[in-house]
Amino acid sequence: MTKKNTSWGGRFTQSVSALASKFSSSIDVDSVLAEKDIIGSIAYAESLQEAGVINKSDLIKIKRGLNQIKKEIETGKFKWNPSLEDVHMNIESALEKKIGDSAKKLHTGRSRNDQVVTDLKLFLKDETKAIKKKIKDLQKNILNKAQKHYADLMPGFTHLQIAQPVTLGHHLLAYFEMLQRDSIRFENNEKTLNQMPLGVGALAGNRFAIDRPKLAKKLGFTDITRNSIDTVSDRDFVTDVSYSCSMLAVHLSRMSEEIILWSSSQFDYVQLPEELCTGSSIMPQKKNPDMAELIRGGSSQTLGSLVTTLSLMKNQSLSYNRDNQEDKEPLFKSINFIKDALEIMSEMIKGMSFNIKKMLHDLDLSEVGATDFAEYLVLKGVPFREAHEITGKIVKEAERKNLFIREFNLSELKKIHPKIEKDIYKFIDPKKAIHAKNSLGGTSPKKVKAAIIAAKKTVSS
Ligand code: ARG
Repeated sequence: MTKKNTSWGGRFTQSVSALASKFSSSIDVDSVLAEKDIIGSIAYAESLQEAGVINKSDLIKIKRGLNQIKKEIETGKFKWNPSLEDVHMNIESALEKKIGDSAKKLHTGRSRNDQVVTDLKLFLKDETKAIKKKIKDLQKNILNKAQKHYADLMPGFTHLQIAQPVTLGHHLLAYFEMLQRDSIRFENNEKTLNQMPLGVGALAGNRFAIDRPKLAKKLGFTDITRNSIDTVSDRDFVTDVSYSCSMLAVHLSRMSEEIILWSSSQFDYVQLPEELCTGSSIMPQKKNPDMAELIRGGSSQTLGSLVTTLSLMKNQSLSYNRDNQEDKEPLFKSINFIKDALEIMSEMIKGMSFNIKKMLHDLDLSEVGATDFAEYLVLKGVPFREAHEITGKIVKEAERKNLFIREFNLSELKKIHPKIEKDIYKFIDPKKAIHAKNSLGGTSPKKVKAAIIAAKKTVSS
């Protein structure tokens, strides 16, 4: 039997069983909230003093005690006690040991229900900022490569089949855009993260004159929550952050998939920095893209975490239920994975070099100018559907002869359509055709150059 819990021992004759204590303890997971818990408690103690609930001397002792505990935690001297359930009770109990009776007043009007949401929101506000910074670093690395290769040609793919020529710079900027949306998603999360929960009590509100707007400002929140019941039962913000992590992880996983494909000898589009690759213990020639594979594999966990937090909420009646304690492990796992994955991906992009020759060579593997051929006919007055049909037929004919359209001579081409002139060869040449894709957002080197300038502005602040 463990000792009777001092936070609620009055009502109990029995202490919680060792089994129940072990099952309900969350200290292994939530101790990372310690710093935020202490910041929140100090600010709350000041509000209690301003409300006349505790006196100045209590406040001084509470602050001193909590700051000492903070140092002990930072230096690894603090002894966490799993039987004290969670981070909140560990700190409260340590404070009582340090300063005695004044510590017993700190929890006046407060519940762990509003305390834990406050800690978690404070924590996520910081984590969101850190993730946004890492996204930006990755975007900058992508931009550097895009700038270098803004005019270099490669096959663009649909269905993983060579489709139309694009520039490598343009392809890379696609990832920049995906990451930009990720950044916006995390920024949007900040709106609800900025609503301060503290001061609503267990669920019903607080009878003591806690100035919540003032408390919010002190803790760096820009707003406060409006309904005490919702405040302690809401975990939307956990799911929101978890979703943002998942979407970002999906993007990083797609990047990884391309890195894995592109670094294979079949593609041979990219060389990865050696320090981010691994070898084989049996096959001496191997240089494996393990980091990319680990990002692709690890990203699955973030999707699992999202489903966990969503299903955690769906059957909960209002307001707080202990189920909520289960939100932290999946959330923290996602955040830790995302931060590591962003860093590794940045290093991978920074250190990779592209095989432009091979990309150019692959353009010749297919009838990559077929769409341009059809558009040539359109410019000669043929309706597009007809032009498509005509082009399709010549592609088939070329295939039968084991040739490409570009290898047909002009008289053969004129048989297909009399308006075809010798300028067709330049028109369907990827090196020329690329410049025609000049629409806003298109792949012409001119537009890619402009897109890079705009992208640079986006990440410069
Ligand atoms: N460790 C708990 C959690 O993470 C803190 C709140 C506990 N509240 C309670 N009434 N048992 O949700």
